[in-house]
Parts: sequence; structure tokens; C-alpha cells
Amino acid sequence: MGTEPPHTPDFLYGTAWKEERTAGLTELAIRTGFRGIDTANQRRHYFEAGVGEGLAAVYRDGVVTRGQLFLQTKYTYQRGQDHRLPYDVSAGLAVQVAQSLASSLEHLATDHVDSFVLHGPSSGYDWADADAEVWEAMRNERDAGRTRLLGVSNVSLRHLEQMEAAHAELPAFVQNRCFADLGWDREVRSFCKDRNIIYQGFSLLTANLEVLQHPALISFAQRLNVTPAQVVFSFARAAGILPLTGTSDRDHMVQDLASASVKLPPEVILAIESMAE
Ligand SMILES: NC(=O)c1ccc[n+]([C@@H]2O[C@H](COP(=O)([O-])OP(=O)(O)OC[C@H]3O[C@@H](n4cnc5c(N)ncnc54)[C@H](OP(=O)(O)O)[C@@H]3O)[C@@H](O)[C@H]2O)c1
Repeated sequence: MGTEPPHTPDFLYGTAWKEERTAGLTELAIRTGFRGIDTANQRRHYFEAGVGEGLAAVYRDGVVTRGQLFLQTKYTYQRGQDHRLPYDVSAGLAVQVAQSLASSLEHLATDHVDSFVLHGPSSGYDWADADAEVWEAMRNERDAGRTRLLGVSNVSLRHLEQMEAAHAELPAFVQNRCFADLGWDREVRSFCKDRNIIYQGFSLLTANLEVLQHPALISFAQRLNVTPAQVVFSFARAAGILPLTGTSDRDHMVQDLASASVKLPPEVILAIESMAE
């Protein structure tokens, strides 16, 4: 893998923490123009069946077809779950991965997702044997056609370097929380860029309030007649980040999508890159 996949949208709509509003907000996001949906088979933070209800509503009304959407879900280890598990914990990891994805496909009423992501490695430090086992099971799911592409999330540079040393195949996507005070995850982004891995960034706004409130950023926004949030999303894209947003607000959905056409001057991009360091 490692080559840029076709049909990856330029914004992903995140469905975490929406509980009973998940179906309505997923539907609204697609009606507003989002074509990429991020979810997880982790009932603790996501209501994946609700995402499926939202999809059913837009398909029914002819807003989009399945083929026009990019659907991404995740396998989450038991320690990231509550009691509502999408697999049999007594089964081995490979079986858990297969059961988790089978349940996601049922929730989303599809025969394949576009991206299947390991929610986080089993250790915060090393790429461990358990991760290698899960990764192999994920590759088998991909080879069987149940996902087009694979990804990993919440990974450090060390995880990725160890993964590279252990496996011939790297992910198509890395999805990380993107902290401005770490140069917007510069080290991991650079690893990804060198290997044609698409870096997905989440919490671009919520993890970086000091940037959103920075006088220089506010002044760039005023100069360009856009909002500070739009400047951050536009910067992210210029830095090669595929952004996620989890907004619950229709106007913010419109603004977030419109940030794709906000063009920042090179000196503004440079200034934002190191604004919080
Ligand atoms: N892999 C992982 O472990 C992981 C972890 C966390 C998140 N994620 C994924 O990433 C998605 C997004 O999460 P997130 O942490 O980036 O975002 P989030 O927690 O959903 O929050 C985004 C925040 O930004 C605000 N916002 C969005 N657009 C705005 C705008 N244009 N102007 C002002 N405020 C705006 C939202 O408020 P309003 O609702 O009022 O707009 C909300 O408070 C999640 O839903 C999930 O899919 C993945």
C-alpha cells in the first residue's frame, strides 16, 4: 500500500460523542456536502448503528449512493471499550478483528468499508506482538474485500518505525490528535509524507485553543474575512493534513467545508506551523 488511494475526500466528518443525535447529524453532514464519514465500532464513544441510520436516510432520499461515500471505521481493543463489545472477548484477536468488522458492515449496511483503522496500538510505547497479530488480521479482511484500505490511529513515530521494521506493508492512513505545540505532529507527518501515507488530523480545534485565540491568527482571519477555525483547517490542508471535524452545528459544517477554498499566503502557513512552539 502506501500510494495515494482514489476517492479520499478532502474532509472527514467525525461521528464520536453524538449518541442519539448520531443519525440526524450524519444525515445533515452528508446533505451539507461531506462525503467522508469517520466512525468506530466502539459503543463507548460512537453509535455506529446510528451512523447507519443516517446513511439509510440519505440513500433513501437519493442524496448520494454508497459509491459516492468514503466510510471509515475502527477496530478497538477491549481496554478501549465498555461492556458493549462488538466481539467475543474469549476469541483470539484475529477473530475479534473479523467479528468487529462484520458487525460494522452490518451497522453501516454495506459489504465493504473504504478504510479500516486500528484505533490504537496495545501499548502506548511499542508496536507489540498483539498489534502485529491484529494488523495481519486486518490485512486478511482487506484481501477478502471487506475494506479497501487500512489505517492506524493514535501512533507515535516510534510505533510507526517499529511497524515498518516488522511488516512489509504500511498503512494507507495514520489518524492522530494533532497538537500545534508539537509542530502539528511534525515527526509523524514527516514519516507519513515520505511514504505517501495520508495523515488524518483530529482535534485540530479543541487541542489547539491557544492557536485559535492567538492575536496573529485572529488577524490573519480578519484579513481574509474568514473565521479562525477556517484558518486552522485551511492551514491543516496546506500542511498535508486530511482534517476531521466533529461539529454538531450546521453553519460550522458549511464553514468547515468552505475552508477548502481558503488559500493562505505562504508566510501565514509558515507562521502558523510554529505558532504554539
Ligand atoms: N482516533 C481517535 O482516537 C479519535 C479521537 C477523537 C476523535 N476522533 C475522530 O475525530 C472526530 C472529530 O473530533 P475532534 O476532536 O476533531 O472534534 P470534536 O471533538 O467533535 O469537536 C470539534 C469542536 O470544534 C467546534 N467546531 C467545529 N467547527 C467549528 C467552526 N467552524 N467554528 C467554531 N467551532 C467549530 C465544535 O463545536 P460545534 O459542535 O458547536 O460546531 C466542537 O466543539 C471525532 O468525531 C472522531 O470521529 C478520533
